Amino acid sequence: MAMWGGRFTEASLAEFSEFNDSLSFDYLLAQQDIQASRAWTIGLLEASIITAAEAEQLDHALADLALALESNPKLPLQTQEEDIHSWVEAQLQQKIGGVAKKLHTGRSRNDLVATDLRLWTKLNANQVRSTLITSIGALITFADAHFGAVMPGFTHLQRAQPVLVSHWALAYIEMFKRDLSRIDDALARMDVCPLGCGALAGTGIQIDRTALAQRLGFQSAALNSLDAVSDRDYVVELSATASLCMTHLSRLSEDVIFFCSGEAAFFKLGDAISSGSSLMPQKKNPDVFELLRGKTGRVLGHLVAILHVLKGLPLAYNKDMQEDKQGFFDLMASWQQCLLVLATVLPHLSVNVERCRLAAELGYSNATDLADYLVGKGIAFRDAHELSGELVLVASKQQKPLEALALDEMQQVSPLISDDVFAALTIEAGLAKRASLAGTSPDRVKEALDATKVWFEAL
Ligand code: ARG
Repeated sequence: MAMWGGRFTEASLAEFSEFNDSLSFDYLLAQQDIQASRAWTIGLLEASIITAAEAEQLDHALADLALALESNPKLPLQTQEEDIHSWVEAQLQQKIGGVAKKLHTGRSRNDLVATDLRLWTKLNANQVRSTLITSIGALITFADAHFGAVMPGFTHLQRAQPVLVSHWALAYIEMFKRDLSRIDDALARMDVCPLGCGALAGTGIQIDRTALAQRLGFQSAALNSLDAVSDRDYVVELSATASLCMTHLSRLSEDVIFFCSGEAAFFKLGDAISSGSSLMPQKKNPDVFELLRGKTGRVLGHLVAILHVLKGLPLAYNKDMQEDKQGFFDLMASWQQCLLVLATVLPHLSVNVERCRLAAELGYSNATDLADYLVGKGIAFRDAHELSGELVLVASKQQKPLEALALDEMQQVSPLISDDVFAALTIEAGLAKRASLAGTSPDRVKEALDATKVWFEAL
């Protein structure tokens, strides 16, 4: 039965109810609805709305319901209630009768749903947070396992300068560290309790909202009732954080897909995380990373959707806000799953060290080092760049790397070149030189990796 039938003379159309009801998806908030109701029960007792015996009865019934839901979270789906709030109240009425009718005193589904969703979001954001930490841990292990391996670094997807494979992994760790701090920021800002704000104007009963907030584990109580019942900023903030984090995951996936291609062949996927083709027997496809990239699309879509739901809403609660849930639940589940998958598949990703090195040696990735060498001989960088470019042309005409040119061929381009040039053109020299903070020299990367491990241990 609906919670609001008194002034109605006609029953709801089935088509209306089907469109209006939210139980089919907001049943996921059942535990939070019970949690909020238990805290509210204490408030009702303190406000002398109910007796101690009634409070105990309500609390026991709510606790029993929570237990029943633990063993069967889909229990609400066996009924036809409008939403999870109606379901909890109806269940209580069945169990304890009239006392249950007192539970909704002074509260509204507007402050209740706002509280439930915040509690759910806090819980789930914390779960994603720990999965993100697990993924960062897997990247640290990857960076550690492949320390010393060198690969081409790219700009414009053209070979640019060699980098360590660990340096590549640490780049994504930096991104995920920022995502982690964004989750923490969002968690801190969402830690505000809307319960006790009523439908929009505040509750009419004498209740200590600060104590109520504390009982529910919130940092503080919301300060404006109109805002509190209609604030979904935290949904947007976390969706935006998810979108950025997934964008990072998607870029990582794109790198890995390319690195696993026959053309690059820097990385190899283990059989346990690859799929084949139904037609082409030779194929081994990086489906996992393609799905990580693909699922980013739906997460980004949910962010855009919630922004559009909210942008035209007048204060305070509007039913449009019921549309805050399905997309957000899906976003949180996808985000959580993708991070877990990343952590699971990384140990199955191997690095073809020889192939990576060979690719780093080719493509004139040391042309900048040659220019830098000439700068060391007193030539201005712009001129050194020109001379190095000329030598790249000479070498490429002969289909040779720079270091395979004879000294006299080089000296024809610049007489300042002497035989110490060959040492300067090695990958090791090129890497070692990039030794300032954030650079890819093995010493710096080792330092960065060690610092990351210290940071990680302290989490
Ligand atoms: N199912 C609703 C939601 O998810 C609960 C709040 C309903 N409030 C109301 N006044 N109709 O937003």
